[in-house]
Amino acid sequence: MTKDLFQPLRLGDLTLPNRIAMAPMTRSRADDDGVQPDIAAIYYGQRAGAGLIISEGIYPSAMGKGYVRTPGIHTDAQVAAWSTVTKAVHDNGGRIFAQIMHTGRVAVPDFLPGGVLPVAPSAIRADGQAYTDRGMTPMVTPRALETSDVAGVIDEYRRATRRALEAGFDGVELHAASGYLPEQFLSSKTNRRTDAYGGSIANRARFVVEVLEAMASVAGSGRVGIKISPEMNFNDVSDDTPQETYSHLVEQIAPLGLAYLHVALFGTSTDYHGLLRPLFRGAYLAGGGFTGESAEATQVQGRADAIVFGAAFIANPDLPKRLAEGLPLAEPDKATFYASGPKGYIDYPTTA
Ligand SMILES: Cc1cc2nc3c(=O)[nH]c(=O)nc-3n(C[C@H](O)[C@H](O)[C@H](O)COP(=O)(O)O)c2cc1C
Repeated sequence: MTKDLFQPLRLGDLTLPNRIAMAPMTRSRADDDGVQPDIAAIYYGQRAGAGLIISEGIYPSAMGKGYVRTPGIHTDAQVAAWSTVTKAVHDNGGRIFAQIMHTGRVAVPDFLPGGVLPVAPSAIRADGQAYTDRGMTPMVTPRALETSDVAGVIDEYRRATRRALEAGFDGVELHAASGYLPEQFLSSKTNRRTDAYGGSIANRARFVVEVLEAMASVAGSGRVGIKISPEMNFNDVSDDTPQETYSHLVEQIAPLGLAYLHVALFGTSTDYHGLLRPLFRGAYLAGGGFTGESAEATQVQGRADAIVFGAAFIANPDLPKRLAEGLPLAEPDKATFYASGPKGYIDYPTTA
């Protein structure tokens, strides 16, 4: 392994000691109130050798919860539990951003206060099923947000950012991928609005831009990042002109001076790293299916500033050390990705 992944990197207000980031990964260990268990501090603390840890998706408000046992950050108990996580990471010399994830139409009423319908840009049902305590249930047709509702949803992200800083996070990442609320606004298939938040690409990008402005107004732009996954088409989103949509989006957010743009690619033949990186001024993080070798090659070719590893970080808490020393990587056990409890969570060994 050559040394490129182990050069320090300026990322907004932070300096990372290496260019290996841990991807945001939902692990479904929280309780029904969205409070992380004590073992979450152990799990994240074990992975503090990452240049940057991005937390699992965290719902900013009760209306943003889309999955069982996922954590939130809008109650005092949730914030207190996250404080133990950030402390463990910092005590071990690491840095951690909170990924703010509002699932929008993908939530089912089981998860929402009073069993109300989830919210979305338009009343279009996602084709698919949600995993609940009742088993798999079909997604529902969401309630389209009124124009007058949108500012309130943006405010939920603003408040979540404040709460994340209170919990000791070093910054926040907007989850604008995987077919959740921000991508529902961005994508032509899920956004049929006729107001300022729908129609043209500029209008569809508006929600994401305004959310980022709100987050930056609280944290400072040097502590805000965004994740996108063009053409991932997860959760039944898709866009008619993704190259134009994402180019426009990145051009719009470039002047905000954000810490980073995180682009995770899955199976598209379009070279989005080549397309988007020149449009962005901050650090550029590439993710999706990287190995140590492909990460190093991407660095050497200057196609990204840092590489984001997901599943490999689950099974290899000391992944940066293993990559640095060329040690073999353990395989993750997919059966325990979303299982509750410590198994497959805090019991992957580090190398001696
Ligand atoms: C168990 C698991 C949970 C995930 N949860 C999230 C999530 O909460 N937020 C998110 O943006 N991506 C999530 N992802 C996607 C990862 O962030 C990453 O983009 C993906 O795993 C590709 O990287 P990899 O090939 O290195 O694993 C998840 C992936 C896995 C394996």
